[in-house]
Amino acid sequence: MGQIIDGKALSVVVKDEVKAEVAELEAKYGRKPCLVVIIVGENPASQVYVRNKVKAAAYTGMESQLIELPADISEEALLGKIVELNNDPKVDGILVQLPLPKHIDEEKVIDTISREKDVDGFHPGNVAGLWLGKDCIVPCTPAGIMRLIDSIGYELKGKNAVVVGRSNIVGKPVAKLLLDRHATVTIAHSRTADLGAVCRTADVLITAVGKAGLVDGSMIKPGAIVIDVGMNRNAEGKLCGDVDFASAEPVASWITPVPGGVGPMTIAMLMKNTIHCFLSRQK
Ligand code: GUN
Repeated sequence: MGQIIDGKALSVVVKDEVKAEVAELEAKYGRKPCLVVIIVGENPASQVYVRNKVKAAAYTGMESQLIELPADISEEALLGKIVELNNDPKVDGILVQLPLPKHIDEEKVIDTISREKDVDGFHPGNVAGLWLGKDCIVPCTPAGIMRLIDSIGYELKGKNAVVVGRSNIVGKPVAKLLLDRHATVTIAHSRTADLGAVCRTADVLITAVGKAGLVDGSMIKPGAIVIDVGMNRNAEGKLCGDVDFASAEPVASWITPVPGGVGPMTIAMLMKNTIHCFLSRQK
């Protein structure tokens, strides 16, 4: 019977840490960290995410601003807005919610956000820094996953970790963070032969694909830790992860629910990253 790793409760602990840090920083530097979140268009899921990000910022007491831009905004105008925020000394963190409308080149947008204000950790300089083991911004979801694993006091050294999914946002960076903790890491993906066999080698299984029911209990090693990053709707329209919770939970030792697992931790770590950006800009 798996125990639940409660991401919602842990996210409150992290946000409370940030709240205390914000108060300290304001006392020391005379201003609060400031996060700007940009959304382009009306993707309903993105609208929920950005609203939750701004709400979390308000909870911590930091400054925040939500900029809502029309779906047909030109790439040039969006890049111009980002440059303006890069040059604004009061802004510490800039987040452009992805995905963007098709006529906008996401890579150009990511490259335009100045590295020091890149709270997502998507800038090529931050990606390189992560892989070279430098002190830099770590993408929010992978950082949240590590904090979830740490919260149960699990020692990763020498364990087999399997990451299903190879995105730049989750799969690749979390694999690097697991390597840093001396886990033996396998990255599986849509072309992996016999995904079940690969997953069954995992002491720690992380799924970040975006496909409901991709992994079920028969693919999980008894006693494994299961971290489900997926955020999908099933046939009944209910929010669910990549893991079939009903069959996986009895096999796992620990498992994250969807919702209430990784999602809230992503947002909490964004608050931490905003503090990190604020502090590196004081130097
Ligand atoms: N879309 C889905 N996840 C993310 C994220 O972590 N950051 C941004 N900017 N967009 C996202």
